[in-house]
Amino acid sequence: MTTRILTGIKPTGRPHLGNFVGMIQPTLQLIKDTAKEGEAYVFIANYHALNQDKDAAQIRKNTYEVVATFLALGLDPEKVNFYKQSDVPEITELTSILSNVTPKGLMNRSHAYKAQRDRNEELGKELDDGVNMGLFNYPILMAADILMFDTNIVPVGKDQIQHVEFARDIAGSFNHIYGEVLTLPEFRIKEDAATVPGLDGRKMSKSYNNTIPVFEDPKAMRKAVMRIVTDSKLPEEPKDPDNTIFQLYKEVEKDSAKVKAMYDGFVNGGLGYGDAKKMLADSLDDMLAEPRKKFEELMANKKYLDEVMQMGAQKVRKQAMKKISKVRRKVGLD
Ligand code: TRP
Repeated sequence: MTTRILTGIKPTGRPHLGNFVGMIQPTLQLIKDTAKEGEAYVFIANYHALNQDKDAAQIRKNTYEVVATFLALGLDPEKVNFYKQSDVPEITELTSILSNVTPKGLMNRSHAYKAQRDRNEELGKELDDGVNMGLFNYPILMAADILMFDTNIVPVGKDQIQHVEFARDIAGSFNHIYGEVLTLPEFRIKEDAATVPGLDGRKMSKSYNNTIPVFEDPKAMRKAVMRIVTDSKLPEEPKDPDNTIFQLYKEVEKDSAKVKAMYDGFVNGGLGYGDAKKMLADSLDDMLAEPRKKFEELMANKKYLDEVMQMGAQKVRKQAMKKISKVRRKVGLD
């Protein structure tokens, strides 16, 4: 039996360096590794965006940008099942069916939902304020994404473990009632899902406005690097290598001799922050020049992006239709 590995990506637009290091690179690596012994499914979780994001044009644009990002960084749509969630309507049908074997109590325990309630409690608001059913049902939709394709392994960051466990529980209850139909998935923590610091040293995140864009104009990227906040030690002074510049550098520079040179320069003194920032910007340029060009070309050719998504949907829908018809028969719809 081949191993099936599946991951969904919410359409969040152009990636910054934090997404790149924490999510995109490890995902591409994992796909490469599994391609040898199994099948990979990578999809844009655009239904999942709807509970939060109500700007249609923004969602559409973000979707194109995420598709172009993965293609620009080398995802091969011939080898990987690469598709848009909304092009596979069987997924929502499965969501609807699974909701009948999902205890409400399980959903009450969902981290995302609980977090919103906790925020409301702190603010003295109604507990369900701002909670729509899309947020509440989010884990069932995600279970359908996973169970649709008999997924064995779901690579996730720590925040998503609970969702995979829910999918397992939901599959278990379904099978208990209707027989062995759904495959129980397992999560796999993405090994090198490093959290990289942003310009101000906090976690790099759009909401902190401290990101380094990777697919924008190279000058903007360089400028951002130059704005990284450091202490005011002089070039000759020894410095703590656990600073933002080095943390980023060791993630992006593949030449270990260069990484060691920066490390030594900081620890022994002799390397100033300004020069270190230039080294970081140079590495980023080297690594990103090609993908950036590719990204621009792809974004200028939406028709091609549409075709890639359609091709992906066509491949996986065959499988989805088979699965859903089995499920429909089991529960008595057909
Ligand atoms: N919930 C995931 C996230 O926020 C995205 C996602 C949706 C997903 N469906 C999935 C991830 C299925 C893995 C498998 O990142």
